[in-house]
Amino acid sequence: MTSVIDLRSDTLTRPTPAMRRAMAEAEVGDDVYGEDPTVRALEERLAALFGKEAALFTPTGSMANVLAVRTLVGPGQEVLCEARAHIARAELGAHAAYTGLTMRTWRDPRGGVDLPVVREMFAPDMGPFFVPTTAISVENTHNFAGGAVTPLAHLQALKEYAGSVGAGVHLDGARIWNAHVATGVPLADWGACADVLAVCLSKGLGAPVGSAVVGTADAVAESRIWRKRMGGGMRQVGILAAAGLHALEHHVDRLADDHAHARLLAEAAGGDPDTVDTNIVVVEREDAAAYVAAAREQGVLIAPVGPTTVRLVTHLDVDRAGAERAAAVLARL
Ligand SMILES: Cc1ncc(COP(=O)(O)O)c(C=O)c1O
Repeated sequence: MTSVIDLRSDTLTRPTPAMRRAMAEAEVGDDVYGEDPTVRALEERLAALFGKEAALFTPTGSMANVLAVRTLVGPGQEVLCEARAHIARAELGAHAAYTGLTMRTWRDPRGGVDLPVVREMFAPDMGPFFVPTTAISVENTHNFAGGAVTPLAHLQALKEYAGSVGAGVHLDGARIWNAHVATGVPLADWGACADVLAVCLSKGLGAPVGSAVVGTADAVAESRIWRKRMGGGMRQVGILAAAGLHALEHHVDRLADDHAHARLLAEAAGGDPDTVDTNIVVVEREDAAAYVAAAREQGVLIAPVGPTTVRLVTHLDVDRAGAERAAAVLARL
């Protein structure tokens, strides 16, 4: 029997044998006391990679986003973001529920920054009725915009504008590694476009768990307190941080393979490979539900993400042969 090829998400990967060994051998301590050497090593590594002062390991990307955004936006204040941003659409309203902030959104076909619109929307002090804007959030790559990369120059222009008006910039970099590999732009250059980032080790990088807030020492110290308050202070969690360190060492450059596989699949599924920047393919199909069901029958799992939209995501557990087999199935359908 041939195995199922699961293209529903890049969060579905299982730790490799080498990653499991690194986890088993990790030195650990109580991280709530700041005494887990492997967590500390991971946090230092992440801070250095993004050119920031500090980082904080978190269980999930959603928690990292909530902690990161709240360093810039308080209760009764607002953050501006793109309409399909993960923070706006897919975190169950966590930012409103925990922080008490509101969001206003702009719409960009590729999930990017529409700077003239952002300028128009930005309202830090409009008198006694209006919610003050204190920050702007961007997502790179953009999940629901099909893994699109927002070019560095756009984020640099946004950061410059934000700096000139005293706004903070948050970058949801759950898949910033994919943007880095797709463009060759160093992680530190992406880091310089934001005051605070949330990055994930558990998406394309293939760790089973783990994300981080990356930013100033003050933002990270504040996030450490809020992480504990939210119940996210973990103990001998070096076993998970070890997976993250292993992923940073071994699973970044290989993302180029995922990107190539995604283009192959886009073509097979009737999409345009030239619109595929990274590892996510979004294809419009009138027959989305039937297509997903027919693919499943043939051992290829893909996700419906709208009545006429399907999504395919490549990752560590789909090698070239798997991608070719899935492409053959999708092309036949
Ligand atoms: C862009 C983006 N940000 C944040 C998250 C949240 O990560 P988690 O599922 O670890 O909470 C995701 C999850 O897929 C995501 O795609």
